[in-house]
Amino acid sequence: MKKQAIISAFAAAAIFTAAGIAFAQSATVQTLRGSDVSDQNRVEDVFQQDEQRFPRNYRQQPPLIPHSIDQYQIDLKANQCLRCHDWTVAGERGAPTLSMTHYLDRAGNQLDRVAGTRWFCNQCHVPQADAPALVDNTFRPSN
Ligand code: HEC
Ligand code: HEC
Repeated sequence: MKKQAIISAFAAAAIFTAAGIAFAQSATVQTLRGSDVSDQNRVEDVFQQDEQRFPRNYRQQPPLIPHSIDQYQIDLKANQCLRCHDWTVAGERGAPTLSMTHYLDRAGNQLDRVAGTRWFCNQCHVPQADAPALVDNTFRPSN
């Protein structure tokens, strides 16, 4: 009698599990991108860079980057921006040299190597984007 009860409990559990799987398979998953999960989603290249140096909007502005930076690694040990912009190589690479502020440490000492505070370039410099303004802006620099 007891054995019978255990067997029917197992049978019931099996039926519920099978029903659960069937339900899960029939429910369609909603996608946020509106396309199938196996589709290639190509991002349109709408916001191209202007690729020319912009005048600065105010005196202390970190100039916008007029070239792509996707391929230049910056991490704890490597900084590929310096391969063109460091004072030691900028002349021969035809790139603008880092200004003196990039070689001053926190105590105001002049260094030969880029200061730690200026290591992560894209903390201040961002690539240009030919994109519409997100909000109206009436900013005017002081003169
Ligand atoms: C292969 C060499 C090269 C590398 C690497 C490189 N740059 Fe440049 N960069 C240039 C050149 C050349 C220009 C000047 C372009 C021009 O005059 O149109 C420039 C211009 C700039 C300017 C504009 C300066 C101004 O006064 O308008 C900034 C900012 C800049 N780069 C930042 C970076 C950052 C940040 C990195 C790394 C993520 C980087 N660059 C990596 C060659 C390089
Ligand atoms: C803490 C912010 C900050 C960081 C980090 C920084 N910069 Fe700058 N950068 C500036 C500002 C502000 C200016 C403009 C004023 C000046 O020259 O100090 C500037 C100017 C420049 C210029 C133009 C220099 C000139 O005389 O025309 C270049 C090129 C440049 N930065 C490249 C870089 C590169 C490459 C790195 C990374 C090694 C870097 N910067 C890191 C803020 C920063």
